[in-house]
Amino acid sequence: MEPVGPTVPIETPNASGPFAITDREFQRFRALIYQHTGIALGEIKQQLVCSRLGKRLRHYGYRTFSQYYQHLMERDPKGEELLRMINAITTNKTDFFREADHFPFLASEILTPLVAQAHAGGPRRLRIWSAACSSGEEPYSIALTVLEGLSAPGAWDVKILASDIDTDMLAEAKEGIYRAERVASLPPPLLRRYFLCGKGAREGLVRVRKEVRNLVAFRRINLRDEDWPIRTVFDVIFCRNVIIYFDRPTQERLIPRLVNLLKPGGFLFLGHSESLIGMQVGLRSVGKTVYQKAGDEEEWPEVRRARG
Ligand SMILES: C[S@@+](CC[C@H](N)C(=O)[O-])C[C@H]1O[C@@H](n2cnc3c(N)ncnc32)[C@H](O)[C@@H]1O
Repeated sequence: MEPVGPTVPIETPNASGPFAITDREFQRFRALIYQHTGIALGEIKQQLVCSRLGKRLRHYGYRTFSQYYQHLMERDPKGEELLRMINAITTNKTDFFREADHFPFLASEILTPLVAQAHAGGPRRLRIWSAACSSGEEPYSIALTVLEGLSAPGAWDVKILASDIDTDMLAEAKEGIYRAERVASLPPPLLRRYFLCGKGAREGLVRVRKEVRNLVAFRRINLRDEDWPIRTVFDVIFCRNVIIYFDRPTQERLIPRLVNLLKPGGFLFLGHSESLIGMQVGLRSVGKTVYQKAGDEEEWPEVRRARG
């Protein structure tokens, strides 16, 4: 591993000159980022902070991170620059049908039983939350699975809430426009049914069709905030590849709040590298990083044990 000295000069892409961050500056930004996002940057993430926030320094013509920190503290009364700083620091990697086994699970273990219940007189209502949706690929993958999985989707009241802390990502997600190679591996029938192909100036781009976009409502929600603007309960919550950036105390505060927003019998999907090991939160594992909340009439033995 590279030795990390007290001052680390870092070449940022397209920088007119290199930026350096001192240990003290790094610790201040680390604390600020944790306070506002829950993202717990490790001790050796100086380079990441330099390269991601370097563009904000360049924007203002600042030469040091202390100048930028002072700007955030003293010249940002409305918190606009704080939002841009948060947008710059987040990791937004995502994909259509990422961690692909989750989508057949959604179809066969959740949608198919709901359709059967609806045929027997059950409600035709479905509420899903994609809680860290990045640029929209996840909620649109959910929407496509729902449209394919409900035999007559038009007869259903379906709403997908898609949220993220990053307003740049939310703006992209709302547009639903992607480079064609991002969807190249999708089955051609899905592409034909749910995407429009760009022509002329939009050659090489695809757009998610309006009927799919209409199922999804995008909002900025910070999972770290005490209060979320959510007044419903969900059948399914996708909270994938975000808690990995949080420390254990933040995860332990967040997961029970997600469970509270699930209907009895509802499902929580985490990312494949995330887990609830050691957390007694009333969920049982039902698939690879898929968890189910106890139903109205049942209680999992491990929940009884946890309550003593
Ligand atoms: C790696 S992406 C995962 C996207 C998608 N869920 C997936 O699995 O493909 C992580 C997302 O979490 C968002 N994020 C980070 N901290 C957050 C917070 N405190 N509240 C809400 N979203 C957050 C980031 O902006 C980013 O878009």
